[in-house]
Amino acid sequence: MEFSLRTKLVTGYGCLEQIGEIVQGFGVTKVMLCTDSFLANTKAAADIQDALKARGIECLVYTQLQPEPIDVDCDRGAGFCKEQGVELIVALGGGSVMDQSKAMAAIVANGKSCRELDDTVIPKRMLPLICVPTTAGTGSEVTCVAVITNTEKKYKMTIMDVDSLSPDVAVCDPALLTTLPKKLIASCGVDALTHAIEAYTAADGVNNPISDALALQAMRMIGENLKRCWEEPENREAQSAMMLASTMAGAAFINADVGAVHAIAETVGVAYHIPHGVANSLFLPYVMEFNRTGNEGYYARIARQLGVAQPGAGDEENGKRAIRFVEQLIDELEIPAFSDFEQADPADFQDMARRAAENALSRDNRKEIRQEDYVEILEKAYQKKKLYL
Ligand SMILES: NC(=O)c1ccc[n+]([C@@H]2O[C@H](COP(=O)([O-])OP(=O)(O)OC[C@H]3O[C@@H](n4cnc5c(N)ncnc54)[C@H](O)[C@@H]3O)[C@@H](O)[C@H]2O)c1
Ligand SMILES: [Fe+2]
Repeated sequence: MEFSLRTKLVTGYGCLEQIGEIVQGFGVTKVMLCTDSFLANTKAAADIQDALKARGIECLVYTQLQPEPIDVDCDRGAGFCKEQGVELIVALGGGSVMDQSKAMAAIVANGKSCRELDDTVIPKRMLPLICVPTTAGTGSEVTCVAVITNTEKKYKMTIMDVDSLSPDVAVCDPALLTTLPKKLIASCGVDALTHAIEAYTAADGVNNPISDALALQAMRMIGENLKRCWEEPENREAQSAMMLASTMAGAAFINADVGAVHAIAETVGVAYHIPHGVANSLFLPYVMEFNRTGNEGYYARIARQLGVAQPGAGDEENGKRAIRFVEQLIDELEIPAFSDFEQADPADFQDMARRAAENALSRDNRKEIRQEDYVEILEKAYQKKKLYL
């Protein structure tokens, strides 16, 4: 068994104030703050720039990126880094900013294009990277993965290498969640929950006791806090729990894997331009139901973590209670349904199901899953079929 967590984690309300000192520790003089055009105008971006300036460190701001990053933007940003002689990147943002920053840092170090880094060992360690997550969802601040869309072949590449692509430091300040719109608290939170559930229910030999422990605790924290964080945007305790739980779920899945929810969500997300967290929410209950039969004990344990297991009820009933909880949570968080997306067309489902079945993530799903199973899951999600009333 192997378990790696190469990223130093700094966390706690207000911990962003340590950023100047942390960057200074790398002995660099020129830094790039990679963020998006909204976050570039926030107090957090200003605080980072002030802290660096106060220590005599030059800081360029780079915002040429889009949500769900694409290969050509990463190549362009890496070109800029090289031209400017950037020595370290600070990524301030959600999974999109962090993933694009990882890709740019790896392209600069390796002299390859973004597409050339897909599906291969990355020989040289990327430029030093400090991640400052502003969503509680992806866990990208501690994962060695950059998920980047290949615009030529229209799929999400998983650029991955534990030695070369794990961020150096993750500065996880829950205060940054205060500006996060409710709909993103919801969908990013369900992404984190999906990481925890899929890591825990990954195929035997893919999961392991350490990732199980992280995933189970993350489920408990998300079960208790996601709805509260969504209802009370100023609730520090709920924000802190969600920030930490999403990081823990990231550390769990990167040492196990995600499975069928991510396989189908990636396919549908790229085809219909549905954000990652929302795409996961569309399918999570239906994949849980598919996986539950034959694995009742796993789902009963998930129910216990989510606080919905009934004492005295058997695994069968408690597993169903876990799924009912997740189904209701997604409804209560007002996440859009599949049929709300006008571009969704059942005529596409066979092809999408085939692509999902061919996705490597399907191999790490607890249960063998075939094209016809995905078709059924797509249809149920499209009809928003109630699993348990
Ligand atoms: N690398 C990994 O391990 C990993 C894991 C899961 C998902 N992903 C990838 O992450 C991406 C999704 O990331 P995400 O869900 O974090 O969303 P995101 O990074 O795409 O951000 C979505 C939107 O939220 C806004 N935003 C972010 N933080 C904000 C804040 N604090 N206040 C106000 N607005 C804010 C951004 O400006 C953006 O418009 C996808 O591309 C997905 O494939 C990566
Ligand atoms: Fe995810």
